[in-house]
Amino acid sequence: MIKIGTKVFNTKVFLAPLAGCSDLPFRLICREHGAQMAFFEMISSDALVRERGKTINMLKSAEADSPIAGQLLGSVPEIMLDAALKMKEHAAVEFIDLNAACPVRKVVANGQGAALFRTPEKLFAIIRILSGKSGLPVTVKLRTGFDETDIKKLINIARGCEDAGAAAIFLHGRTRAQLYSGGVDYEAIKKVKENAGIPVFGSGNVLTPSLAKKMLDDTGCDGVLVARGAMGNPWIFKDINSFLKSGICSPAPDKKRRLEVLKKHISYIRKYSDLSSPSVIGLMRKASLWYLKGFALAAAARGKVTASRNYEELLKVLDKLDRWA
Ligand SMILES: Cc1cc2nc3c(=O)[nH]c(=O)nc-3n(C[C@H](O)[C@H](O)[C@H](O)COP(=O)(O)O)c2cc1C
Repeated sequence: MIKIGTKVFNTKVFLAPLAGCSDLPFRLICREHGAQMAFFEMISSDALVRERGKTINMLKSAEADSPIAGQLLGSVPEIMLDAALKMKEHAAVEFIDLNAACPVRKVVANGQGAALFRTPEKLFAIIRILSGKSGLPVTVKLRTGFDETDIKKLINIARGCEDAGAAAIFLHGRTRAQLYSGGVDYEAIKKVKENAGIPVFGSGNVLTPSLAKKMLDDTGCDGVLVARGAMGNPWIFKDINSFLKSGICSPAPDKKRRLEVLKKHISYIRKYSDLSSPSVIGLMRKASLWYLKGFALAAAARGKVTASRNYEELLKVLDKLDRWA
């Protein structure tokens, strides 16, 4: 049981916020395979305040898509508060997470995401205003550092976030300079956990049940975020949960089963996405390539998937693969 503000979660394994990936179809397929808690995709506070249609659409949810949290990107405390209030209007979020981890150059150049690590006073001011006035618990997603990890600075920043009112910390165990590759700094996560009075979640390479357990055991963190480990692999949530309970690894699903889940995933994209958008087939192709990793004949299949122009064509390609599975 993990308490974030006044909210209680009966799981220590959350689906991470994933820009461009953790949309409603992806969350639903993960929830059907054991994810009990998820985040919306990251939302720009500026776009949300302007109530851009595309941004409001990102807050689309469904009955089975609960509980859920939202994540905001931004750097101006007052705009972020307006955005938090708008988010509350449009979605039943359990808490709002402040993104202080996004490494994208354009984001950082705007003083947002991981750049907040370099302006701790601004970071704390945002947390203070959100936790004081949004009426929701506020959490923060951090990295271990900007160019490199400085444990003392990291602990000070984590403490400052807590003092400003943060209800939990999600810590990606890499620096901004590492982007998404290289080792995950368990020691930094451990130190933050040891010094925090609020829940600390570890993130980074939670790709298998044993890596999830290792993160929990080696760092003492309260929970973990599953990110790339869920792409084309949504059953990772059930697998982690059962491994944490029994120590037994479930056998990997066979190709037939993987294809079935993929087909369901793309049927959800069809059902829940704005079909007039040309990007829908792009979403379907992207999801298909995740699931086809490691398939025999994958190279040929990938080419056909990438060439599919619509749902029906893609389904034909997958049906053929079904016969090879
Ligand atoms: C495609 C992609 C999109 C991501 N989007 C976000 C995001 O919007 N907000 C965020 O806090 N982290 C985001 N992340 C970071 C993940 O939440 C996670 O912390 C990171 O990928 C490390 O976990 P992993 O090594 O298990 O993938 C993203 C990562 C990827 C690969």
